Amino acid sequence: MLINAGVTARDRSFKRGNPGSLAGADEIIMAKKPKPSGNPNIVKLWPTTMLTKRFAHYQKVNPALLELFYQHQQREQRGAQKSYASKDDLLSQYPLHKELNELAEFISQGIVEVAREANADLWQGSEKVSVNITGLWFQISNNHAFHEMHVHGNCSWSGVYYVRAADCSTSPASNSGERPNGVTRFYGPHVEHMAGGFGDYGNLYLHDNHWDSFPEDGKLCIFPSHIKHMPFPYSGEEDRVIVSFHAQVFNSSGSQSYNYGFSN
Ligand SMILES: [Fe+2]
Repeated sequence: MLINAGVTARDRSFKRGNPGSLAGADEIIMAKKPKPSGNPNIVKLWPTTMLTKRFAHYQKVNPALLELFYQHQQREQRGAQKSYASKDDLLSQYPLHKELNELAEFISQGIVEVAREANADLWQGSEKVSVNITGLWFQISNNHAFHEMHVHGNCSWSGVYYVRAADCSTSPASNSGERPNGVTRFYGPHVEHMAGGFGDYGNLYLHDNHWDSFPEDGKLCIFPSHIKHMPFPYSGEEDRVIVSFHAQVFNSSGSQSYNYGFSN
């Protein structure tokens, strides 16, 4: 389903600290940017740009989504398992569902926002961009359900929207001494060098290899699709309910505009 976010790279300038934003959003972007050390001999490279923000309408939209998802699950439950994942064509299955479309629009705007930040030096400022949500599905989990570490293919941006965080960990301190419950963990490139690698005082920075998104009702988290991530096992009184998605982004020419020439 092609959703044109209806914004330009310049016009859709979401203000940081707006009422719908989460406290962590700025920290994520800023924490991954190279910090000037003041030492002209040092180069720090390749930050990761992500976005988290809360949907302003989540208190209205989420109950309608929960109703839709549980009805859908009851119709299509394929076995006796406690957890459930729908197919990824929800937008095609429910093209007229008001709240689902509101969420899709919010997601599309978030993708434009984070892609604009990541491509700030490359996008033409006034250029219109459109977002093609290539898959959107929901998952209901409990009883320690989880997914292994993975990435998403054939897309540039992926994300999770927490419809019901339930008993998920809410902060690094909330499950002190235990594994976090139901968080979404993202892994940076340093994780590749941890297993069997050499560790000493000189490469302590390699331990800074992951970041957790703590679920909150109505929170959206968008990340580059190639970033490894893992939904941690969840168990609680109520089910953890999320929407997952992935998307492609196009400019006005409608092409992927990827240069396969020899100049790069
Ligand atoms: Fe995923």
